[in-house]
Amino acid sequence: MKVKILRQQAPFTESYWETFDADVPGDMSVAALIDYLNYRDDIVDENGKKTTRIGWECSCLQGVCGSCAMVINDVPALACETFVKDMSGDVLTIRPLRKFPVIHDLVVDRSQIQENLKQTDVCIGEYQPDFSKDEKKSKKEHALQYMIAKCLKCGLCLEVCPNYVNGKTFYGALFANDCYLVASRNKEKAVGISTQYAEHFGSACSKSLSCMDVCPMKIPTIAAMAAMNRG
Ligand code: SF4
Ligand code: FES
Repeated sequence: MKVKILRQQAPFTESYWETFDADVPGDMSVAALIDYLNYRDDIVDENGKKTTRIGWECSCLQGVCGSCAMVINDVPALACETFVKDMSGDVLTIRPLRKFPVIHDLVVDRSQIQENLKQTDVCIGEYQPDFSKDEKKSKKEHALQYMIAKCLKCGLCLEVCPNYVNGKTFYGALFANDCYLVASRNKEKAVGISTQYAEHFGSACSKSLSCMDVCPMKIPTIAAMAAMNRG
C-alpha cells in the first residue's frame, strides 16, 4: 500500500506531502505503521529518495494518553487505535491535526487546551470534592461522571468542531465536559462554572455534536450539556 504523509520540518515552514511504500499486515495499527516506516534501515520515499524520520507523538500505545491524535484518511483519530485493515483504498493519508500549530510533521502544539482550562475554575489543582454530599449522588450521576472523567484532552473533538478556533474564547466539548464534572461535584464552584460554561461554550455551541462522533472515549457530551443547561 501507499502511505501519504503531510510533512513539515519546523513551525511556520511549508508543508509537503511525501509518499511511502509499505507492505504491512492489516492488523497493524497506524502507530505501528509509522514506527515501521521510521525504523527501516533506509528511510526512502516511493521513488527511493532518502528522507528523514517522520515526527510524531505517542506514549501509551493503548488509547489512554491521547498523544497520537492525528487525521487518518480525513478522519481525526488516535493512531494507536486505528488499524490498517479498517481503511478503504490502497492509499492511506496521514496529516497532523489542523486546529493546532504544527511543531514538526505530525506533532502539533496543543498547549492552548491547557491554557484555556487554566483560565477557568475547572482545573484539578483547585478541585476540592465534597465527599459527604458525593455519597448521596445517584448511580446514574456517578456513571456519567465516570464516563466524562475519561477525557484524554486529545483534542480530536476540537478538530471536528465548526466553532473551535485555537486561541479564541470558545473552548469546545472537552471544556463543557469538565464543567459538568466539577459543577456536579462541588456546589461551591457550580455558580461560577455555570457562568464560564455559558461564556466559553454554551453561547457559541451550534450543536453539530460531531465532537461525540470522533471521541475515542465515547464521552456523551450531550448529557453533560443537558445537565449544565438544567443548572
Ligand atoms: S472529549 Fe473525547 S475527543 Fe475531546 S479531548 Fe476528551 S477524549 Fe478527546
Ligand atoms: S499513544 Fe497513547 S493514545 Fe495513542
